[in-house]
Amino acid sequence: MSWETFFNLLGHMGMERFEWSQNLSIGDELIDGQHRVWIEKLNDLSNAIDSRRGGDEIFDLLKFMVDYVESHFLAEEQYMAGQNYPGLERHKLEHSAFCRMLSDLLALDRTRPGAIETIASSINNFQIVWLKHHITRTDGLFGEFLRKKGGSFPGLPS
Ligand SMILES: [Fe+2]
Ligand SMILES: [Fe+2]
Repeated sequence: MSWETFFNLLGHMGMERFEWSQNLSIGDELIDGQHRVWIEKLNDLSNAIDSRRGGDEIFDLLKFMVDYVESHFLAEEQYMAGQNYPGLERHKLEHSAFCRMLSDLLALDRTRPGAIETIASSINNFQIVWLKHHITRTDGLFGEFLRKKGGSFPGLPS
């Protein structure tokens, strides 16, 4: 499918958007804040695709988002390790599988027809669903663990 044909199809549906809402809060300000930034970067990327920016700009935004996601995962894992969270290893597996998918996207040949369509389809059909599920279920379990543990934690609202 050509870039133009793809955009004509997108004209009917456009890129999906993922908006922050309070039900995505896991009860920890530090992690919630990073999730909000991630969602903003994802939407920036969707906006660039919708406004038919060039491949270089789209790949730059993708790289920008991937760097942020990797630093968020690392921060989250360090936070969990510091709290002796028993679900850490399982959680790390989910993070690393998602990182592999993002690396595959970054490794696409941006000059090849279909590269941007692959990114767009990954956002619309996978990333938003994964992120929503990961935040509410997987990260949410850590939020629940912190609440049950009690006490005060960096960023945890009092
Ligand atoms: Fe996570
Ligand atoms: Fe997270």
